[in-house]
Amino acid sequence: CGIIARIGRDEAAETLLSGLENLEYRGYDSAGIAVQNGSGVKVHKCSGDVSDLESQLDETPHGNVGIGHTRWSTHGPPTDENAHPHTDTAGDVAVVHNGVIDNYAELREDLHSRGHVFESDTDTEVIPHLIDEYLKTTDETELAVRRAVDTLEGSYAIAAIVDGEERVYAARKGSPLVLGLDDGGWFLASDVPAFLEHTDEVVYLEDGDAVVLEPHDYAITDLEGRPVERPVDTVDWDPQDAGKGEYDHYMLKEIHSQPTALSNAIDGRVVDGEVSFEDLPPGTFADVETVQLVACGTSYHASLFGTHLLRSAGVSADAIRASEYEPVSGPVDERTLVVAVTQSGETADTLDAVRTASDRGARSLAVTNVVGSTAAREADDALYIRAGPEVGVAATKTFSSQAVTLALLSQRLAADLPEATPPADSTAMLEALDDLPNQAESVLAESRASALARELLDARSYFFIGRGLGRSVALEGALKFKEITYEHAEGFASGALKHGPLALVTEESPVFAVYTGGEDGKTTTNATEARSRGAPIVAVGPDDHPLADAADAHLSVPDTHPVWTALLANVQLQLVSYHAAALLDRPIDKPRNLAKSVTVE
Ligand code: G6P
Repeated sequence: CGIIARIGRDEAAETLLSGLENLEYRGYDSAGIAVQNGSGVKVHKCSGDVSDLESQLDETPHGNVGIGHTRWSTHGPPTDENAHPHTDTAGDVAVVHNGVIDNYAELREDLHSRGHVFESDTDTEVIPHLIDEYLKTTDETELAVRRAVDTLEGSYAIAAIVDGEERVYAARKGSPLVLGLDDGGWFLASDVPAFLEHTDEVVYLEDGDAVVLEPHDYAITDLEGRPVERPVDTVDWDPQDAGKGEYDHYMLKEIHSQPTALSNAIDGRVVDGEVSFEDLPPGTFADVETVQLVACGTSYHASLFGTHLLRSAGVSADAIRASEYEPVSGPVDERTLVVAVTQSGETADTLDAVRTASDRGARSLAVTNVVGSTAAREADDALYIRAGPEVGVAATKTFSSQAVTLALLSQRLAADLPEATPPADSTAMLEALDDLPNQAESVLAESRASALARELLDARSYFFIGRGLGRSVALEGALKFKEITYEHAEGFASGALKHGPLALVTEESPVFAVYTGGEDGKTTTNATEARSRGAPIVAVGPDDHPLADAADAHLSVPDTHPVWTALLANVQLQLVSYHAAALLDRPIDKPRNLAKSVTVE
């Protein structure tokens, strides 16, 4: 979910609605705003996305103080009633919330017995009722809000407005909240893109912080009301990055921004043939014995990529799906480095895995795109992938930036760890990195993906295979394809195809075979096995390869080091998914049921 609040001299509603559009990647099941003016708190909300909300507003509600929300459903289906903001029985207190309140059932029962009337199935609705209840014990709204918040168990970022008050009250624990400062007033939001077009001056709030915003002032305290100092930071994202520009979709814009994103990820990080990270000097990891990369979704596939490179460099490493960390992590101690690979830095499963590992003594590193994110702040160290804001729910440029950053990290670990043995071709790999942004540019300019997507559109299933690094790309290719086309797609290790999935292979199931030139010819054999059963084969890799000749179609990748070949093959597959989804007229940037940043477990 995404939340936003605004207090300033201007009309809050317009700013809230445009902020919500920028936050829709966090959820788009329902949307709502509440605005405070001289005649009470006015709530407008509905199921559907922000454009549905806008089309329901006859006129923009007036008032300079307001809150807004875009929802990814947890408790209760995406109905009008379950949309935020929620209010107390009299409608004097309105609240938006991101997170999950674990003790909401008992709170609701207690409040119900005190005469409070509930209208939704959500956990959030207890919050305005609680504030209302505490307002019976004090004249100070600030105190009532803090007491209410203190009663909550679980995770939350909350913003509230109260009838008759030119103020916004907010608090966070376990869900992100950032304050934006501009000349005309203040913003509060789940993430910076919500208000990046207005200001780049931000204050990252910490867990346990409570905030009161007034038109000309803001105050941060702990839940006891003791003042807390938080620094003002300047974000270095370009406001241009927040829009779609000339592209039909954010996803296409982000695919095309990969040459720049890759240059940014690499910039200044290879000096005299050695990997150099500003905040992680040589020797930083000298005590590490084993590395665990924890992640979800696309970031998990980048972690598989990174794990492959770490192992090739003689570093003991595992990629673990963050939601599976507890059951499969095995022994962990202070010589374990847990690397949280997370674009947003807010994925609840990933944060939970890192906290579990840290409790067991592990050291932690966040590899993330978002400065000030929870992962960046909680981990012992942070390494930024510098991709710029990514809005399309399907991750594209951040996969590439993660893959490059993890490749550099693998070199650094290999150099730091006495027992590791950097692969013989690591110098060649770093040298080849210089050409990578240009090669990505040429893939984007010359790709046949659009025509191929059209040719293959009537298929029943789409399979993606690869070996080693190619496997991580195959899995990512399939994930992207299913996320945005809604067609059935699966990725496999090439060799696994014959051990079951081959039963599904027919002439109606094209197989995309990813090869990097780095592995032996086994992917060619496995692709040929599928072709013998009638499946059209699409070779994804360099020209000079037997698979390129044997396949029915070929998506060409420039000659380079096999590590970068894999990454460029992934760019081709991103384009295939995008064009297939565009032909099917899917809502590419906001696929059904998904959210970019899943801040609940
Ligand atoms: C969600 C998104 C995926 C993303 C995953 C991990 O599932 O839909 O696109 O890869 O979260 O997100 P993170 O921010 O941790 O990389």
